[in-house]
Amino acid sequence: MISHSVPPARRARLGGGARAALIVGALSAASIVAAMALQNTATAASTLGASAAERGGRYYGTAVPANKLSDGAYTTILNREFNQVTPENEMKIDATEPNQNQFTYGPADQIVSYARSRGMRVKGHTLAWHSQQPGWMQQMSGSALRSAMLNHVRQVATHFRGQVFAWDVVNEAFEENGSRRNSNLQQTGNDWIEAAFREARTADPNAKLCYNDYNIDNWNYAKTQAVFNMVRDFKNRGVPIDCVGLQSHFTGGSNYPSSYRTTLQQFASLNVDVQITELDIRNAPVDAYRNVTNDCLAVSRCTGITVWGVRDSDSWRSSENPLLFTGSGAKKPAYDAVLAALNNGVIPTATAPTSSPPGGGGCTASISAGTVFGDRYNTNVAVSGSNNWTVVIALPSPQRLQSNWNATVTADGSGLVLTARPNGNGNNFGFTTYFNGNTGGRPTIRSCTAG
Ligand code: XIL
Repeated sequence: MISHSVPPARRARLGGGARAALIVGALSAASIVAAMALQNTATAASTLGASAAERGGRYYGTAVPANKLSDGAYTTILNREFNQVTPENEMKIDATEPNQNQFTYGPADQIVSYARSRGMRVKGHTLAWHSQQPGWMQQMSGSALRSAMLNHVRQVATHFRGQVFAWDVVNEAFEENGSRRNSNLQQTGNDWIEAAFREARTADPNAKLCYNDYNIDNWNYAKTQAVFNMVRDFKNRGVPIDCVGLQSHFTGGSNYPSSYRTTLQQFASLNVDVQITELDIRNAPVDAYRNVTNDCLAVSRCTGITVWGVRDSDSWRSSENPLLFTGSGAKKPAYDAVLAALNNGVIPTATAPTSSPPGGGGCTASISAGTVFGDRYNTNVAVSGSNNWTVVIALPSPQRLQSNWNATVTADGSGLVLTARPNGNGNNFGFTTYFNGNTGGRPTIRSCTAG
């Protein structure tokens, strides 16, 4: 439609006579409204799962116990908000192998089929762990335990093959001081973790294989460093590992740390996905929930966030009210903060520009997609952390700047490097770019510098 070739920014800059001629000649009020509606739908999903999915195919999930699937108030929220599920207890060793070599999968299968029939991904949790072991396993040691553990990994991973996108292969194998936890599994030999990963890879070659732990959120913490070193060593030696899960049970004893984003980035730099796997925060403070969301969105390999329960009353720490919904199912302020943060996140698809800046310049600039027109498209930029900033943006060749709003934007001699400065209209600005034949390319933020 011809009206789509004149973006709102351009219309706003036209003088009264030109505007009238355009409106008479080509535009209708309806088409303006349609163009603006298109812009809005790209950035304001109304549920956690839908918004996360728009942002690079991420998920927003929850722990689910099988016995809640018959609670209508519960499933109303589950079905509406979440696109990933982790069985809370039903895939643990005591649940799946209560007697040695007798495997029971009923409740786990129930969760898996419930989730998969609704398009939710399932993460398996967990194949090898010192806790929630059945009595027979607790009694075992040495080579008998090693083979029982490997048999368990093989059997369970084979049963769920093709149904889970990822497994927590090993859970909580480190002490706070960075040494290995002295469990019965550890006593079978220091290589028990890699043996479990290798066994899992053989049983389900397509599942992502994760190491999962708590208190590995603070980059400057011995346990975080120890897990990082293990993952690096596994990668160097070809031990199959694809992801690291940060449980992120934040309490008074272990708060959201300011280095959280660094930790996510550092793990991702080892060429593994990172996931926030069991998020709950005492009293559900808005800031911490928002920060966790923004930190995940800022790291492209942070592929999803799972909260450890739906309503406060569902939580394993229910007295701390750590979740996003009240016991009666109402959205808490933390819910609103998480959804808003997700909706403000970058949409890295072909029609939606990628990238946010590397940071370090005292401010952060985030790109989000605007309307696409016939020969050009809009890009929106939000700056945070400073009111006096310089944002440098790279255009893909041979695209060129056409117009801009709410900032002063200049192109350098190449036409491909834009510099934006505030012009008194706040911290959200935008610009229109000619495709010049490159309809897939989108801008990237090079830097945001405060001052
Ligand atoms: C918890 C469950 O939520 C409880 O229902 C159960 O009684 C104990 O385990 N780390 C983990 C999770 O990896 O499996 C734990 O889940 C919470 C801590």
